Amino acid sequence: MTQSIKITGGVPLKGEVRVSGAKNAATKELVACLLTSEKVTLMNVPDIGDVSVTIDMLRGLGVSIEREGDRVTVDASTLTSPEVTEAFSRKNRIPILLFGPLLSRFGTAIIPALGGCKIGARPVDFHLTALQQMGTDIVCEDGVYRASIEGGRLHGAVIELAYPSVGATENVMLAAVLAKGTTMIRNAAIEPEIKDLAMLLQSMGAIIQLDVNQTWIIEGVESLHGATHRVIPDRIEAASFAVASVLTKGDVLIRGAVQDHMISFLNALRRIGGDFEMTSEGIRVFRVGEIKPSTVETDVYPGFATDWQQPFLILLTQADGVSIVHETVYESRFGYTDALNAMGANITIHTNCLGAKACRFSYRNHPHSAVVVGPTPLKAAKIEIPDLRAGFSYLVAALIAKGTSTITGVDLINRGYERIVEKLKGLGAEIEEVQ
Ligand code: EPZ
Repeated sequence: MTQSIKITGGVPLKGEVRVSGAKNAATKELVACLLTSEKVTLMNVPDIGDVSVTIDMLRGLGVSIEREGDRVTVDASTLTSPEVTEAFSRKNRIPILLFGPLLSRFGTAIIPALGGCKIGARPVDFHLTALQQMGTDIVCEDGVYRASIEGGRLHGAVIELAYPSVGATENVMLAAVLAKGTTMIRNAAIEPEIKDLAMLLQSMGAIIQLDVNQTWIIEGVESLHGATHRVIPDRIEAASFAVASVLTKGDVLIRGAVQDHMISFLNALRRIGGDFEMTSEGIRVFRVGEIKPSTVETDVYPGFATDWQQPFLILLTQADGVSIVHETVYESRFGYTDALNAMGANITIHTNCLGAKACRFSYRNHPHSAVVVGPTPLKAAKIEIPDLRAGFSYLVAALIAKGTSTITGVDLINRGYERIVEKLKGLGAEIEEVQ
């Protein structure tokens, strides 16, 4: 097992790298496979920690899963248990999505509390309220949710989300495809990973469509069937490599990156002095001139994704002037900046909304705006990774820091990035894993 990663900064990244399948699509799609007793094959499934945890969790329910390279075949005809055991409590955000499939198959579901990155309170009230509206009776005892259906089958409902939550939208979708009647999800999330999930469900026999004004409409059907589906490329990983290329004054072809999924990111990159060229293979990203300061506001899709914020902020530490990052998705996602300041960055965190618009965290004392003053040379350091996306941003910071950095807590990066050391090495980075 890798104990730490050592990186010596100063090498421009050059060459090609292939983006893996999207973590936040693949893990949800594995759950969707439980909605049928027929086999579902997913291709382009990344070999990462969160996928392994999800596969183990599904196997724990009796599901048969075979993996061959990036192809995973799920046979949920052997599903025997409606109970996700405590062993999977607090590992990631996936268990809560099992309500729909387990309720549809068994009429009951027992699911432990959630885990995932520590980047805010991350409540699940939208999920529970929506499932209740669809006829689920849910109680929570000692951190375990016990759910059952009043009346044998979930029913459709008009769900109005208070915020376009990715997980809550997916949860309702997974419950609605086999529910009686039609479900409408208003103010829903429409991230590419959710559209990909919808496409898998449609291939499995669901009637599901994206309507105007961020609305999903799902007409419940009696049963779903087997399908084969290719998971979309990971736009978060693609953006991370794009940042690394611009930051190191490199030139990297990011194979498989999809422009349509990254429009906001690419605009932000161009504004600060990065540039790119679309090719039939992917997106080639490089630097033009010095990095310019900018203002970035995270948002739900199609806005600038919160998961792009951390690597992008490293770029801003090298901009000549004052930049602002306003995080509007999570109330507390700047904890990772202390370590960057220790490396020489000049980042201050504020509770005010420092973006163009006031967000829902306005006047709530959440540390959700960052002011970055640059350019600041970074020096190597020993850093412990606090969460997945911050972890990649530390790797990126180390790529330009003077000296050799040692990064621990690598398991967190492996949760979401496939063969990351090998990929960076392939681009010329001076990087090694220490066992
Ligand atoms: C998904 O998390 C992703 N995780 C996150 O990626 C991503 O940052 C996030 O969506 C936003 O794009 C997975 O897909 C596994 P949300 P999720 O529900 O679904 C609040 C990564 O590193 N909220 O859209 O948990 C919540 O607190 C991870 O890959 C409620 O208030 O995110 C947050 O402020 C990190 N009540 C906001 O909504 C609820 O019931 C958005 O959360 C649900 C959410």
